[in-house]
Amino acid sequence: MRPVDIIHKKRNGGINTKEEIEYMVNGYVNGDIPDYQISAWLMSIFFNGMTKEERYYLTMTMRDSGDIIDLSGISGVKIDKHSTGGVGDKTTLAVGPLVASAGLKVSKLSGRGLGHTGGTIDKLESIPGFKTAISKEEFFRIANEIGMVVAGQTGNIAPADKKLYALRDVTDTVDEISLISASIMSKKLAVESDGIVLDVKTGSGAFMKNIDDAIKLAKSMVEIAELNNRKIIALVTNMDQPLGEAVGNSLEVLEAIETLKGKGPEDFTELCVELGANMLDLSGLYTYEKAKDILRENIKNGKALEVMRKWIKAQGGDERVIDNPKILPISDKIVEFKAEKDGYISHIDTEKVGIASMVLGAGRKTKEDIIDFSVGIKVLKKLGVKVNKGDLIAELYISEKSNVDEALKLLNEAYEITDVPPKEEKMKLIYERIVGGK
Ligand code: URA
Repeated sequence: MRPVDIIHKKRNGGINTKEEIEYMVNGYVNGDIPDYQISAWLMSIFFNGMTKEERYYLTMTMRDSGDIIDLSGISGVKIDKHSTGGVGDKTTLAVGPLVASAGLKVSKLSGRGLGHTGGTIDKLESIPGFKTAISKEEFFRIANEIGMVVAGQTGNIAPADKKLYALRDVTDTVDEISLISASIMSKKLAVESDGIVLDVKTGSGAFMKNIDDAIKLAKSMVEIAELNNRKIIALVTNMDQPLGEAVGNSLEVLEAIETLKGKGPEDFTELCVELGANMLDLSGLYTYEKAKDILRENIKNGKALEVMRKWIKAQGGDERVIDNPKILPISDKIVEFKAEKDGYISHIDTEKVGIASMVLGAGRKTKEDIIDFSVGIKVLKKLGVKVNKGDLIAELYISEKSNVDEALKLLNEAYEITDVPPKEEKMKLIYERIVGGK
């Protein structure tokens, strides 16, 4: 086999075989095939796409380049959940304990935040004492005892994806559905869960800005999971505004706690119940409708909150945060962002809200940046709300190092206030539900 022939075939719109895909990916990982040939191949894929089988072979080759995480040491049904990332997306923190309170096992490997989106690991580390670097034995013990555990993604999961992603980043071949779905699914299928619920975000704060593209991506990932005989449900959900109110690490932890007390923002609570009901549905433990009732009940009766308390304690965190938010590092210096005129909030450039939080210190511009858990933004007015000039729209929690002027400028640019309200479609929470195996 010669790389140039494989590139030629794809360049001319042909279909690469399993062997050809393995040859290219493994050759790149081993250092036998140079960057420039893989770049040409990626660009050919970018323009010509891949069939569902090609996507599957690419996914499996990347997955098999690294470790496979065997979860058989955890009893019960293990359902994984993955979000493609957004602003204020603290879903794992609330959904995990919520579904664990209904009998599921959630054992997640999560990442850190970069750019305008936050990461679950950073959020959890804002809880004093919380450890995300835990041993394999601890990971399994906590999953079995509590039903919920989250560890930082260390190890060697899909190293081929890491190498290919870095190349895609500098050759402008990131945003192609085959490549994105294979990249995400190579990491998801490396963890041997019983099923996966995907939350594919779309809108101004997501990397899939348009709904049709997000649906295509969701369908592509569902097809890959089906070929792997993995149970899967994908929801395509709204990221045209931040999820809930809190953006920034400690603020988001607090909002997750409040949500499990039944006092969370409506959209965030609703999404947690929806994702959780789909996880339970997939597990076969309850039907979707029954699951929704149970989850709502477990918020009301405090069962989900108790799981969260035990989980925080099990991972070394100060579980008193459940009753005493003062334990969380949250800044007491607040700057107000107010409406410049009367009207309806008709558009929010959510990515800019995420960047505003980042420039306050809550996120990283580069992997090396150190984040400040105490800062962030509380988004008090969202799409469709009528405001008068001078009304409070958002609160900025700041530190001495925060670039407040830049954050305010970004928020000013992000918010559009007009005489007419936005279309209902823009405020819908869930656009599509795609169930695997149907
Ligand atoms: N997230 C991933 O993990 N991979 C992509 O290609 C895009 C987003």
